[in-house]
Amino acid sequence: MLTIQNLKSKIAQSPYQAYVYSYPHKTAYRPLTPAVYLPELWAQQDRQALFLYIHIPFCEMRCGFCNLFTTVSHNEDFMSQYVRTLQRQAQRMKAVLGDASFARFAIGGGTPTQLPIQHLETILNIAESTMGAKLQEIPISVEVSPETATEDKLKLLRSHAVDRVSIGVQSFIDSEVLATQRRQSTTQVEATLTRIKEMGFPTLNIDLIYGLPGQTVNSWLQSIQATLRFQPEEIYLYPLYVRSLTGLGRTEQEWDDIRLACYREGRSLLLSQGYTQVSMRMFRRVEVGQGSNLSPSSPVHSCQADGMVGLGCGARSYTDSLHYSNEYAVGAKGISEILQAYIQTADESFDYAHYGFQLNAEEQRRRYILLSLLSDEGLNCASYRQQFRSEVYADFPEFSELIALNLAIKDEDILQLTEFGIERSDTIGAWLFSEKVQELMDGYELK
Ligand SMILES: C[S@@+](CC[C@H](N)C(=O)[O-])C[C@H]1O[C@@H](n2cnc3c(N)ncnc32)[C@H](O)[C@@H]1O
Ligand code: SF4
Repeated sequence: MLTIQNLKSKIAQSPYQAYVYSYPHKTAYRPLTPAVYLPELWAQQDRQALFLYIHIPFCEMRCGFCNLFTTVSHNEDFMSQYVRTLQRQAQRMKAVLGDASFARFAIGGGTPTQLPIQHLETILNIAESTMGAKLQEIPISVEVSPETATEDKLKLLRSHAVDRVSIGVQSFIDSEVLATQRRQSTTQVEATLTRIKEMGFPTLNIDLIYGLPGQTVNSWLQSIQATLRFQPEEIYLYPLYVRSLTGLGRTEQEWDDIRLACYREGRSLLLSQGYTQVSMRMFRRVEVGQGSNLSPSSPVHSCQADGMVGLGCGARSYTDSLHYSNEYAVGAKGISEILQAYIQTADESFDYAHYGFQLNAEEQRRRYILLSLLSDEGLNCASYRQQFRSEVYADFPEFSELIALNLAIKDEDILQLTEFGIERSDTIGAWLFSEKVQELMDGYELK
């Protein structure tokens, strides 16, 4: 809840309270009764410059830390049923959207490159031919893992104008990776990164995790140094989040201290190497963007704007007033049941949203504030005024306390996090949740 006392007490607690990559979190979604008819919903939405997202919930292994919606699958038959279902869903969605255009496209997971190559090609064709996304003109990002990013799959992606490849490496220290039940060798990681570089993708993103079992600040810096040898345009530094501390062999306080020290040292190293910090987790090399699909005339999708069309079982879709998806689970049994239900979905059922969260005016404002404040662009009060016809400080008077607590500074009309504020992004994010969203999240029973 937004009170100053609450913020003070939250700041005194762990800096690692909630990873806020969107708002509201999927655990605040509930069954929608009655189900929402999508043609009516999308008719009210601006359908130009949409973000198309396709979710592939398959992986070669299940890493011990991962809480994403994904399952281990080497079953080609099942993966092909999944892709066929996605094709059916795309056809219905295209009819729902009518005259729509896409400004961005991403294939995420899971691990999209776990799909056999012919299915990966079908996914690209679904985006282009069924959905009408102009792949040569818009930024396209695909998530890959070291073992599955084979030469033929990377070539396929490049030939379909994919301009950003994002790869999970987590650590360059074999023992740290193995302790998370992730099968991966550093030799193989380096071979894959070399292959990606040679193919000339304009943007390479590498994910690393700090706070892993057995990791020290020194070994963490070694992983970052190893990353820098490949000169990625983007690097994500993720603090490890786990539901239970079992196996880490540390107290919570020790774990927080290590994560904070890793964050600070890692950040300094990247800044000294010419990276800029976009958010608590994201760092970008200054000259990034050359050779990417974005031209000055390309339509621009702003991250605060809604208008995301998600296809696939784990994907979310966003309109201004409704966020929806399939049901969500993390455990193997729950995921498998949801996937089975997805591939059995009747065509007509794809015309409805069955599970989601309705955003009233206040939630829409919170979402806007959260997404802007937690990134380097900051909260532009003039843009907020233009969008919502009201004043940030009138809507949320407690905001001035962010400045009083040295978490943010105000420069003209822009409210921006300070260095301390960025470090505490996961606390500020959680503080900005509405009472209703917090209650729903607390009441969610994880399957
Ligand atoms: C979809 S995966 C990336 C692609 C691919 N599946 C892989 O692992 O190589 C997204 C990223 O989220 C991060 N991640 C997943 N679970 C996490 C957790 N519990 N704590 C911190 N980071 C996590 C990892 O860095 C991972 O690379
Ligand atoms: S981290 Fe990547 S490879 Fe590992 S289980 Fe999660 S999505 Fe799959």
